[in-house]
Amino acid sequence: MKENLQAIWQAMPELDLPQRQATDTLMLTGFWYRTLPAGRVQRNQLYKTTLLEIPLVIGRDRQGQPFALRDACPHRGMPLNGGRFDGENLECPYHGWQFDAHNGQCQLIPSLTSDQTLKVDRIYAGSYPCEEQDGFIWAYIPDPPLPGAGFSAPAGAPDAAPQIAKFSEKYKLAYLQAEMPVSIDHGIIGLMDPAHGPFVHQAWWWRTQHSIHEKKKNFEPIPNGFRMSAHTPSSNSAPYKLLRLYADADSINTTIDFVLPNVRTETIRAGKYWFSSLTTVTPITRNQCRIDVVAAWNLFRWIPFAPGLLKFVFAKFVEQDRRTMELQAEGLKHNPHLMLIDDADRPAKWYFQLKAAHLEAKRTGGEMKHPMGGPVTLKWRS
Ligand code: FES
Ligand SMILES: [Fe+2]
Repeated sequence: MKENLQAIWQAMPELDLPQRQATDTLMLTGFWYRTLPAGRVQRNQLYKTTLLEIPLVIGRDRQGQPFALRDACPHRGMPLNGGRFDGENLECPYHGWQFDAHNGQCQLIPSLTSDQTLKVDRIYAGSYPCEEQDGFIWAYIPDPPLPGAGFSAPAGAPDAAPQIAKFSEKYKLAYLQAEMPVSIDHGIIGLMDPAHGPFVHQAWWWRTQHSIHEKKKNFEPIPNGFRMSAHTPSSNSAPYKLLRLYADADSINTTIDFVLPNVRTETIRAGKYWFSSLTTVTPITRNQCRIDVVAAWNLFRWIPFAPGLLKFVFAKFVEQDRRTMELQAEGLKHNPHLMLIDDADRPAKWYFQLKAAHLEAKRTGGEMKHPMGGPVTLKWRS
């Protein structure tokens, strides 16, 4: 048993992670992050939120287009979320400077007299590329992060926000959210941890500790992440149990991907029926993260209660994970030594290695060196 334990965390030999203690490198910039559920953001209103310790003000203009600005006035740092918003420009509640909601460009400084020539339009409140996708408002956090007050126009994002894979025109969408008092790293390794199921997610109607059995799964490298290769899903996965109502067990196929910085996607297909989810763990502060699960599917047209049932099962799972991390946070307060073991914690090791490789590529300006040399088979009991 002892040989299987790898000396760990800070000390893990193949994990050369000198920056791991620096919190600003723990939260990766240069990626899209989920901000608020789209349904909670009304036109002509302002909402505040925090991502990666950055205060944001989110809203929708008169046409319904979402925007994201840094929630700090470039004049003297006043939060903008408490100001007036006419559906086009935000007005700072301190001295009334006005900013375009989309690009943050200053439109008006009320204190200027007609002979004062300050170039108002050269001043910008920080603004972030913003997209609405699958029921969420996403913001792109650039790398390096925006400076507080600005004289530079915002840059665009290099790519589009992640989308849920969909395989038919009509589908349903649902989401669940939970806040966890742990760092992004614990949130993510908890999300991809295959061994906690029998202990955290047991219920008489679901499974018990006695249903634990050996599993063997193939993994392969993908850009910025890894994939659990297409396989017949584990017999104790929720969507699988419901899909069995529609299709042959053998025709059911699932793929699970993880990509940096925080995205887990799962696709389950059975003939013309499909179920997809896109889960993110978003860093709020260095000690707090939020998990958002958004699922899309084209099933259950003949079983009216099934979506409710699925949501109930997922809500239960997410709550069990949230509760577990709340308890774990108690233990982590005292800086315990931690370890990652093979094979059950290998996905967690890949996560740390991917993160380190990403930071290293950024530092050197070179290509990212993927930590996986090729396909790998992992075995564990769960
Ligand atoms: S602080 Fe915003 S206008 Fe002065
Ligand atoms: Fe879990």
